Amino acid sequence: MYNLLKGKRGIIFGALDENSIAWKTAERVHAEGGKFVLTNAPIAMRMGKINELAEKTGSEIIPADATNLEDLENLIVKAQEVLGGKLDFVLHSIGMSVNVRKKRHYTDQNYDWTHKGWDVSAVSFHKVMQTLYKQDAMNEWGSIVALTYMAAQRTFPDYNDMADNKAYLESIARSFGYFFGTDKKVRVNTISQSPTPTTAGQGVKGFDGFIAYADKMSPLGNASAQDCADYTVSLFSDLTRKITMQNLFHDGGFSNVGVSNAVMEQFVGEE
Ligand SMILES: NC(=O)c1ccc[n+]([C@@H]2O[C@H](COP(=O)([O-])OP(=O)(O)OC[C@H]3O[C@@H](n4cnc5c(N)ncnc54)[C@H](O)[C@@H]3O)[C@@H](O)[C@H]2O)c1
Repeated sequence: MYNLLKGKRGIIFGALDENSIAWKTAERVHAEGGKFVLTNAPIAMRMGKINELAEKTGSEIIPADATNLEDLENLIVKAQEVLGGKLDFVLHSIGMSVNVRKKRHYTDQNYDWTHKGWDVSAVSFHKVMQTLYKQDAMNEWGSIVALTYMAAQRTFPDYNDMADNKAYLESIARSFGYFFGTDKKVRVNTISQSPTPTTAGQGVKGFDGFIAYADKMSPLGNASAQDCADYTVSLFSDLTRKITMQNLFHDGGFSNVGVSNAVMEQFVGEE
């Protein structure tokens, strides 16, 4: 380890169990000397194992529903008290679509569910940043990261309304990134991650076939949750201070491949 985050403080949203991208990131941030508060929705606290992670990393847990402004205000005030100052990094690792969960097809959405999924998966990022901004809770040269998926740019039919939520999330990173950059010298980026076997990932129809396909398409293979944790640490560190308002593909090269020989082999007959 390199002590890349020594002396830095932050908040990590979205660790549910040991498969979660946020879980792996929390462990890696801890190993790099960063201190943080863990948070998740009150309901996830009961289902997940976040207490284990808190113990392991010497962190406090402050529950917050990321769609609820009062919860977020309380979280950000208390996190600064617990950690002893303003924040240097924030990870938004939150996603949920009710249409996906309840297997409603994209062409037959229940719009109450669409609205709920949009609020949880996309608008919550704005709410988190607006609360940080109003409380002036970020140190200069701090870094805010959210996780996204390439379905925001290209169609993956079974990703359903999460594709639209991710497009909105990425746009918020650019729009808020402008104000956070000019007013507070804070970076805002999204990481567009390979399909990853987590609770949220496995909710997508046909996930097993899909993750194998992505792996065969990517020259370097899929990026794992652990790889994502490493990349996120680099974005929280002082080594990436001028990267902001970007959607950063972290996918083993998948996003720039038209077709790979490994995939072609399944379609080409003997010559
Ligand atoms: N798994 C993949 O294939 C993949 C690929 C690209 C991007 N992502 C993104 O990575 C992020 C993390 O997901 P993951 O794959 O680690 O799955 P995960 O299920 O472990 O994490 C999702 C988290 O969102 C939390 N959450 C849901 N509603 C919330 C609310 N109202 N308030 C606060 N938290 C809430 C859940 O409790 C959970 O901890 C998501 O944004 C997801 O879309 C995942």
